[in-house]
Amino acid sequence: MNVAILGFGTVGVGVYDILSPRSDINVKYVLDIVKHEGLTAVSTTDFNDIVNDESVDTVVEVIGGLHPAYEFISSALKSGKNVITANKMLVSSYYEELTALANANGVALRYTAAVGGGIPWLVNLERAARCAKICEVSGIMNGTSNYILDAMHTDKADFSECLKTAQDLGYAERDPSADIDGIDTLCKVVLSANIAFSTVINKDDVDVAGIRYIKDCDIAACEGMNRVCKLLGVAYDRKDYVSIFVEPTFVSEKALEASIHTNLNLITFEAEHVGRESFYGFGAGRYPTAYTVVEDCIDVAGGVKKAYNNVMNSSVIKNSDTVHKYYVRTDYNNDWFASISKENYANGFITEEVSVKDMHSFCNEALAAGKECFIAGIREL
Ligand SMILES: NC(=O)c1ccc[n+]([C@@H]2O[C@H](COP(=O)([O-])OP(=O)(O)OC[C@H]3O[C@@H](n4cnc5c(N)ncnc54)[C@H](OP(=O)(O)O)[C@@H]3O)[C@@H](O)[C@H]2O)c1
Repeated sequence: MNVAILGFGTVGVGVYDILSPRSDINVKYVLDIVKHEGLTAVSTTDFNDIVNDESVDTVVEVIGGLHPAYEFISSALKSGKNVITANKMLVSSYYEELTALANANGVALRYTAAVGGGIPWLVNLERAARCAKICEVSGIMNGTSNYILDAMHTDKADFSECLKTAQDLGYAERDPSADIDGIDTLCKVVLSANIAFSTVINKDDVDVAGIRYIKDCDIAACEGMNRVCKLLGVAYDRKDYVSIFVEPTFVSEKALEASIHTNLNLITFEAEHVGRESFYGFGAGRYPTAYTVVEDCIDVAGGVKKAYNNVMNSSVIKNSDTVHKYYVRTDYNNDWFASISKENYANGFITEEVSVKDMHSFCNEALAAGKECFIAGIREL
């Protein structure tokens, strides 16, 4: 199988390194912004070289971002080439279109590395969904935010200090918004739910709260409850609708999630027959991520010629019936918040069970008004 790697950065170099010694998969092209010397592949800056070469079976997209990755992937699929990508932002944004394009052209669209990096999560989720109804996918899907929260618990350091260390170690981007605002987790939980529930979820319908506004007093409050704070992506298939959200969560210190340290990930599904199965490992990093991309290449070389989903039912997204208690620290109030029953706790409140929808609406309203607001679900997992 002849492969072209698009993007020669962190993951692209890893894919090249792992594939180069193999005799079954040949890296024919490497496309990047600039040409590279000394490669065994043809170095190009022009995607037309690749798409017009009929001997290229498979395109590996590891550029990232929406454009030109979208144009490259669409064009490759239309030309009958398999596509393997690690791009969670792109696939979760153009899910229905790209899946339909792959299926119409009888080629593969695989993106296992897009969720969980080095963890073989999506591929096992797909296998599970073949013979068991999956009712939940959830977990710690973003290594950067887990690193920051873990450091806040362990070192008793404040958020900005832990974020800076994460940046210095290369775990967080210079612009960390996607990680700390929950956007990266959003893309991953949407892709997981799409595969688990055979559906297509619009990211705009998902309630998302990140960890940008967490303070050390929130971690102290969490520890006072014998809990650990984790950023979770959560999706439930409730038969008539899907409930899906991203939020900081105070989990019991006995929960599996509580023992996930540094930048590691833990992702779980719950399915009939098998119960809960959790997958643990490196959610990012050059070689863990490249390893998963190469596993996709081997699957495609072995005959996998389809997108993850064949069936894409539309789902009603509803978070108004999913209820639990929340820890809330805010200087904002409105009629709804005044009306719910809550007790003072540390620098904030612990509410009665309220819906995810209502609590996220309140938090968004507070932040839009320029007020402080940090929320965390209090849940048994
Ligand atoms: N890094 C991880 O651990 C990890 C884990 C899971 C998933 N992913 C996903 O994998 C993808 C790649 O991530 P990465 O960390 O490898 O990114 P990266 O280090 O920034 O590499 C991207 C490469 O693509 C090049 N590039 C940018 N625009 C291009 C264009 N128009 N044409 C050709 N090449 C272009 C970049 O060149 P310049 O550097 O000159 O801009 C760079 O060499 C992303 O979708 C990311 O979400 C990454």
